[in-house]
Amino acid sequence: MGLDEIYNNYEVDPSFQQLREFGSQFVPGFGSRINPDVIFIGEAPGVMEDIQGIPFVGQAGVKLNEFLKEAGIDKFFKTNLLKFRPPDNRDPNHEEIAASVSYLIQELNEINPIVVCPLGRYAMRVLLPDQTSITKASGKVFNSRWCSAPVIPIIHPGRVLRPGAETATIIIRASFQKVKELIDGANEEVS
Ligand code: URA
Repeated sequence: MGLDEIYNNYEVDPSFQQLREFGSQFVPGFGSRINPDVIFIGEAPGVMEDIQGIPFVGQAGVKLNEFLKEAGIDKFFKTNLLKFRPPDNRDPNHEEIAASVSYLIQELNEINPIVVCPLGRYAMRVLLPDQTSITKASGKVFNSRWCSAPVIPIIHPGRVLRPGAETATIIIRASFQKVKELIDGANEEVS
């Protein structure tokens, strides 16, 4: 199944009927579709993403782009675990997450990146159910039963928009460096 077919199925899945009725638009992943260096998985679209139909175009996305630029990572794909915006930006609920998991796994396997980076605890817990703390896991390399690529969870870049983010910023920066190292190592092996 190709990526477009996966997205078409998600868009009409009855599990997301309530979110569609709320007026949310479907927000598919965006970026380098074929063997990117890394795929980033956020939580769910926010208001700007809902308006534009593209993930990470709001303030958190600006921060994500800053970290990417700083680390020198330029071949990436961005997506979200939940692909409809929840009302009032509430956290995704259990049913919405459960209904999204199989699509995310198909998406990861179709895109086949070198590294998979869940951003924040919601996406991390889907791929690494044994990990409980995103702060502790951020920047470490794990294997997931759901994808062949190594998984490096990272604290959500949106965290740096809130007060008291000095430590989080340091951890996020170091985590992006780790992702870059892994990408460079893998690309060197191939060349
Ligand atoms: N924007 C997204 O697309 N995803 C997030 O997780 C946060 C902001």
